[in-house]
Amino acid sequence: FNLLAVKIHLVLLLYCSLDYTFFALLCAGVKKGDRVSIYMPMVVELVVAMLACVRIGAVHSIVFAGFSAESLCERIMDSQCSLLITAGGLSNPHRRLTHVPWNPDVDLCWHTLVCGESDECEPEWCESEDPLFVLYTSGSTGKPKGVLHTISGYMLYTATTFKLVFDYQPDDVYWCTADIGWITGHSYITYGPLANGATSVLFEGLPTYPDVSRMWEIVDKYHVTKFYTAPTAIRLLMKYGSEPVQKYKRESLKVLGTVGEPINPEAWQWYYTVVGEKRCPIVDTFWQTETGGHVLTPLPAATPMKPGSATFPFFGVVPAILNESGEELEGPNEGYLVFKQPWPGVMRTVQGNHQRFETTYFKKFPGYYVTGDGCRRDKDGYFWITGRIDDMLNVSGHLLSTAEVESALVEHEVVAEAAVVGRPHPVKGESLYCFVTLTDGVTFSRALETDLKKQVREKIGAIATPDFIQEAPTLPKTRSGKIMRRVLRKIACDERDMGDISTLADSSVVEELFQNRCSTAV
Ligand code: PRX
Repeated sequence: FNLLAVKIHLVLLLYCSLDYTFFALLCAGVKKGDRVSIYMPMVVELVVAMLACVRIGAVHSIVFAGFSAESLCERIMDSQCSLLITAGGLSNPHRRLTHVPWNPDVDLCWHTLVCGESDECEPEWCESEDPLFVLYTSGSTGKPKGVLHTISGYMLYTATTFKLVFDYQPDDVYWCTADIGWITGHSYITYGPLANGATSVLFEGLPTYPDVSRMWEIVDKYHVTKFYTAPTAIRLLMKYGSEPVQKYKRESLKVLGTVGEPINPEAWQWYYTVVGEKRCPIVDTFWQTETGGHVLTPLPAATPMKPGSATFPFFGVVPAILNESGEELEGPNEGYLVFKQPWPGVMRTVQGNHQRFETTYFKKFPGYYVTGDGCRRDKDGYFWITGRIDDMLNVSGHLLSTAEVESALVEHEVVAEAAVVGRPHPVKGESLYCFVTLTDGVTFSRALETDLKKQVREKIGAIATPDFIQEAPTLPKTRSGKIMRRVLRKIACDERDMGDISTLADSSVVEELFQNRCSTAV
């Protein structure tokens, strides 16, 4: 927090009730329209803090607690937050309570704020198109974008998709394992379920602690009926076989959901057969921070499933597949996934930069919303997401831009240039493979490699830690000086079939990089 150059109040929310929190925020001088950053672990006070903001018309901007102080700082500055709500530590067994240096000029303690206050707080009335929250997502330029959602459309969309996609019934116990620091937690832990009055499990912990049966133990303990998780978690648990799952009954389960990245058919089958014992339909929900809620998804027990396909559009969503020239492709085909008309939950703008909103999503193919994902449509009309087609990587269901990691690397004094690509990973989906060109006279070493990994972790956060770092005396570039990532991707994956590399300025670089490629992560 010492890095924060702006005057920020730090409220330590240790114990709170909902009503008192509104007062805490009001006492801290927050008014309708103000921005409030929230940087907290998965505790109930996080949901309380979100709702407190909404109650008084303030706009929350939640930053995932795994992000570094520098990433938090960047997001606070961009959203112009006047207040930060955080906690002094976590009860997560792998992380310890940290000591937060206290500055009485800017820091406020929860207890002091609420002392003697009434527990009633009238809601602030807002317009339906007033902002509800800002949530940052990686941008291909490297600078994160503040995705802005507004009140009514977003609430309507998350409530409706939650109800229909999970077939929500009043006696359900629903559990989404995501972190609220990501859009899945916003839409399908806080807003969608609460708008339906659903009973939810809020989990602060790890799927593998104290053992790898943790998820199923909780399912039995609370009689969870609808369960929503990510392919990366499924692949992680799949490694331990079916025995840890079968230790628990899981009889309550009715619908299983997945989100965050394409689910490979093997993981789908394991989820369906071992976890759901072939009784529970799987809803493979494709969506984005920007879409607010599910846009391609099966409806449970109504849509015939195909393992690995997000199947069909949700009501009101009109997808199309375009070729490079922007022509709509009919029938079985593959190309850019776009949407032809807006739906209630779509983002409204990029915080503070409407121009960027237009350029990112609407410029490449005018008249269409561009998802940035590739997609195939089969002969039965099913949609299959093939992954990102921009310079974004999906590591454990988290989007990262290659530019963001590259700029963290080149900030190191001995790195002259860096290029980052994805390499398939059995659990994480993709891992980060980094090529670095060092400044003259510097020798690559294990110590430097460790230092560079630390640098990225400190600049961005643990999720962005590189798996592989390879020294590249020169990078493969076109004659106009553009790095050929396609070639680097092949090297990272050890694929010799390069395709056409005639545009390379110096093709001997490729062979040299092949010879020195990293085969296993260190
Ligand atoms: O590439 C797609 C992938 O995740 C991206 C959106 O990431 P984010 O905004 O962080 O939101 C993640 C949670 C909604 C998409 O552009 N993605 C998400 N869900 C799926 C998916 N890819 C394939 N299948 C999915 N079900």
